[in-house]
Amino acid sequence: MVFPQKHSATGTTIFTVMSALATQHNAINLSQGFPDFHIDEELSKALGDAARNGFNQYAPMPGLPILRQEITKSFKTRYNVDIDADTEVTITPGATYAIYTAFTAILSAGDEVIVLEPAYDSYIPNIEMNGARVVPISLSAPDFHVDWEKVKQAITAHTKAIIINTPHNPTGAVWSKKDWDDLAVIVRDTDIFILSDEVYEQLVFDGLKHYSVLQHPELRQRSFALYSFGKVYNNTGWKIGYCIAPPAMTQAFRRIHQFLSFTVNTPAQYALAHILAHGAAEPVHAVMERKRDHFLSLIKDTPFTIYGPARGSYFQVAGYERISNMPDMEFAQWLTKEYGVATIPISAFYSNKKDDKLIRFCFAKKEETLNEAVDRLKKLA
Ligand SMILES: Cc1ncc(COP(=O)(O)O)c(C=O)c1O
Repeated sequence: MVFPQKHSATGTTIFTVMSALATQHNAINLSQGFPDFHIDEELSKALGDAARNGFNQYAPMPGLPILRQEITKSFKTRYNVDIDADTEVTITPGATYAIYTAFTAILSAGDEVIVLEPAYDSYIPNIEMNGARVVPISLSAPDFHVDWEKVKQAITAHTKAIIINTPHNPTGAVWSKKDWDDLAVIVRDTDIFILSDEVYEQLVFDGLKHYSVLQHPELRQRSFALYSFGKVYNNTGWKIGYCIAPPAMTQAFRRIHQFLSFTVNTPAQYALAHILAHGAAEPVHAVMERKRDHFLSLIKDTPFTIYGPARGSYFQVAGYERISNMPDMEFAQWLTKEYGVATIPISAFYSNKKDDKLIRFCFAKKEETLNEAVDRLKKLA
């Protein structure tokens, strides 16, 4: 049997590898980005109610109208933007799917897409699966800011899109309004699309505010803004997200979506509409900021060097130069096997596996999980 090589990634994703290694060595898993605590009781109840009340058949292709309306209300309240629920919002089975669908809606063979690295691992395979070419640009450590001059120089007549991500996985960096303005200047007078991965929009700390591409009138006209409920309601396993884009772009997006999944889990859409209307018991940014602070207060008693600290997302980057000079992939595996704590090596987020000797911790965990993990790491001192 011969299978075509649709993308350049080989083997299994680093998230699967590290999670499997964590299980094998009975390690605490601070690698993959998922919460290990219960979801809001009201949300679980709403899911059960929807199933019991008979909302178990196919939902409309763009998503339940009530959920799309609740999303637009929430964006009006939080970002003061007007979004049309019928023509601009599409519910998807997660943000990863929405990213793939947006790329598929716009890319043809020979197109180029600029990717800022380190980057979430699905972007590059998704671009390549559409026959397009990846143009990677490294963010600048230690604060991982964008070097706009490099972005400008990377643009060619073939550049079809730029994918950006704020708050950022894996670095926890958060874009300012100025970053958006700089991007606007660079793409002005071009037909370049923006894919704005904003899945961590509600996970911003220290009184900072997430600035959405939807708040930038000039960029909004050319942007697919992509979201995940999993990161807002701590239910990553539900795999429900959405795409907000101007009507013509939404039409192109739905032309693909209708022949991929067509529609999304109905009872979960009802439950999400319910929680959006009624509000969660505690906003997720408050919960997660507390976890970040708790993690930082513990990790300072270990030899790791903290980069940042993370201003948003689930993640904290750390250096280990006081512990070892192993390559980061080797170090992460050694840490899992010898000290029982699984993390992700940052080189995994670069197409050329650039190794700055950094690892990523996920702090979206119960306090006792973080306590136990750092107790183990203290043995490194
Ligand atoms: C930057 C980024 N984008 C997208 C996703 C995927 O979201 P979903 O689980 O809704 O597919 C993740 C999940 O970790 C992520 O970190």
